[in-house]
Amino acid sequence: MTDRGIYIRRMFSGIAFRYDFLNALLSFGRDKYWRRFTASRIDAGFGGMVLDIATGTGDLAVEVARRIGEGSDIVGVDFCQDMLVKAQDKIRKSPRSKLELICAQAELLPFPDNTFDSVTIGFGLRNADIGGTLGEIARVLKEGGKLLCLEFSQPRRRIFGRIYSLYLFRILPFLGKAISGNKEAYAYLPRSISEFPSSPELKRVMEKAGLRDIEAYPLTFGAVTVHVATRKVELSYLGKR
Ligand SMILES: C[S@@+](CC[C@H](N)C(=O)[O-])C[C@H]1O[C@@H](n2cnc3c(N)ncnc32)[C@H](O)[C@@H]1O
Repeated sequence: MTDRGIYIRRMFSGIAFRYDFLNALLSFGRDKYWRRFTASRIDAGFGGMVLDIATGTGDLAVEVARRIGEGSDIVGVDFCQDMLVKAQDKIRKSPRSKLELICAQAELLPFPDNTFDSVTIGFGLRNADIGGTLGEIARVLKEGGKLLCLEFSQPRRRIFGRIYSLYLFRILPFLGKAISGNKEAYAYLPRSISEFPSSPELKRVMEKAGLRDIEAYPLTFGAVTVHVATRKVELSYLGKR
């Protein structure tokens, strides 16, 4: 694992106990709606397989479980054991049983090619190696399978953009540190959001990884965006087989 990966994993270990509470507080409760919207875009019928990468405390995986048919299987992966322990508690309380958790890196997924009908990733891509993770997603998705990527983005409207920047760079780090006691994690959050590629840039990286028909759905004035992409095998590649 890279030094950056080790640093990020340690950071999430340090905030795992307060993660859900702070998410709800700092997003004014919008995080639930963002995940519900993401899960609503999923296609996985009976017997489908869904992978939730960077599953953390499991909120997106549980939302997906609520959404899809009983016969489907969901696997959540994350490289931070402390976040997975929180997810395990949630799953135990949920009536849905076919939700498995695996400790693994997004850039080195422990699954064969063409395994999943859908892959979800919520607030995870920003923390991982973007190209490496998208390459792995394209590899484990079946032909025609969908990626649903929920991530923070930069609001386009000027007035909201200014208010958002003030909140992100001044208020959020202060509140995050006061409640979690972890200054570093909530200084990292706005920094990582501002460094994350814009939607057109992200689409280019997704295309390079073999994902097509990419659509972007900005939510809450563009504070977050859900990108939906489809795994397509190139005809030229099929011709070589
Ligand atoms: C901001 S949390 C998101 C959790 C959850 N998806 C949600 O919607 O709340 C990011 C998660 O990504 C995990 N993560 C970050 N980089 C990762 C990587 N390279 N491989 C696996 N997990 C990673 C962290 O451990 C953390 O649990």
